[in-house]
Amino acid sequence: MPVYSEKVMEHFMNPRNVGEIENPDGVGEVGNPVCGDMMTFYIKVKDNRLEDIKFKTFGCGAAIAVSSMVSEMAKGKTLDEAMKITPRAVADELKGLPKQKFHCSNLGAQALNKAIKDYLDKKKGGGKK
Ligand code: FES
Repeated sequence: MPVYSEKVMEHFMNPRNVGEIENPDGVGEVGNPVCGDMMTFYIKVKDNRLEDIKFKTFGCGAAIAVSSMVSEMAKGKTLDEAMKITPRAVADELKGLPKQKFHCSNLGAQALNKAIKDYLDKKKGGGKK
C-alpha cells in the first residue's frame, strides 16, 4: 500500500466540488485502461473564466484527491491559466504522490483540459454560446 501525504488523505476523505453541473458548458471524460479508473469534469464558463467546476470520479483514492485538488486549483482561473495546470503541479500541490500513483494526476489534468476543449469546440461550432 503506497504511503500518501496528509494532504492527499485530507482531499480523499473530504473531496471538494464533487458532483455534476446541470447544463455544463463543457464536459471532459477520461479513463485509464490499465487501472480502469474514470473521471469526468463539468465546467461552467463565464467571461473566459471557470466559474464553476464539478467532477465525478470512479477511481482510486489518489484519483479522487487529484480531482478535488484540480477543481480547487482551476476554479476562478482563466481558461488559458487552467489549461496550464500540469500533472506535476497537481502532485506538488498534494505534497507528492507515490510514483506508481502519478498517472492518477495525469488523469486529473487531462480531464480538465478535455472539458475546456469541449467548451471551446462548442463555441467555435456556433453552439449555444
Ligand atoms: Fe489509476 Fe489511480 S490507480 S487513477
